[in-house]
Amino acid sequence: MSVELRIHEEADQAAVAVADLLASTDGDVVLTGGSTPRRAYELAAERRADWSDVSFWWGDERCVGPDDERSNYGLAHAALLAQVGRLGPVHRIRGELGPARAAALYDEEIRDVVPDVVLLGIGPDGHTASLFPRSPALDEQERAAVPAEAALQPFVARVTLTPWKLAEAPLVVFLATGRDKAEAVARAFAGPPSADTPASLLRSRNGTTLAVLDRAAASGLPD
Ligand code: 6PG
Repeated sequence: MSVELRIHEEADQAAVAVADLLASTDGDVVLTGGSTPRRAYELAAERRADWSDVSFWWGDERCVGPDDERSNYGLAHAALLAQVGRLGPVHRIRGELGPARAAALYDEEIRDVVPDVVLLGIGPDGHTASLFPRSPALDEQERAAVPAEAALQPFVARVTLTPWKLAEAPLVVFLATGRDKAEAVARAFAGPPSADTPASLLRSRNGTTLAVLDRAAASGLPD
């Protein structure tokens, strides 16, 4: 399950690389949550004013309102969506409806959409989106979006896309920076595929998988 490693000296250079990629993409783009992508989103907003040819989706969401500080939509809205001139469709996961209802609605909305790009982060435990180690969602073959239980902060119910849906994209891009991700990055990109490390299972099925890293996050990878 090959991954193309793109290792940058500093985290900001990794953010620039992802910003450039996002700003040059049209079509259906699946964003990630967490804190790492904020800088990439801010830089992407500086690079492009008209995003009307982009439909935004999310790989996962916390079951909170869009204005909640834990909202993945809220992160992207503050750093990117609210900063640009023209937007296309924005498909927010309506987490405030609760995991079951929000997942069912989002599943219906995205099920037949093949994303053009999927952006993912990696947690220190090797989770990605809200696919946590040994989660039943890892084996889901029917639904594109399912409820998920958080195994890391913030401990709030989640909605996540499932591996088969994420893998449909011809381009899957992981962004990870910082030494605290080094062990998870090594397991994800240099270890065997394992349910203990969901990121090790996530690869574009017929396209390209990139890992955009800074030197610190890549420090556990073999030379
Ligand atoms: C989420 C994200 C999650 C994130 C990782 C890394 O909802 O939390 O989708 O998968 O990418 O947890 O988060 P950080 O970027 O904050 O380290």
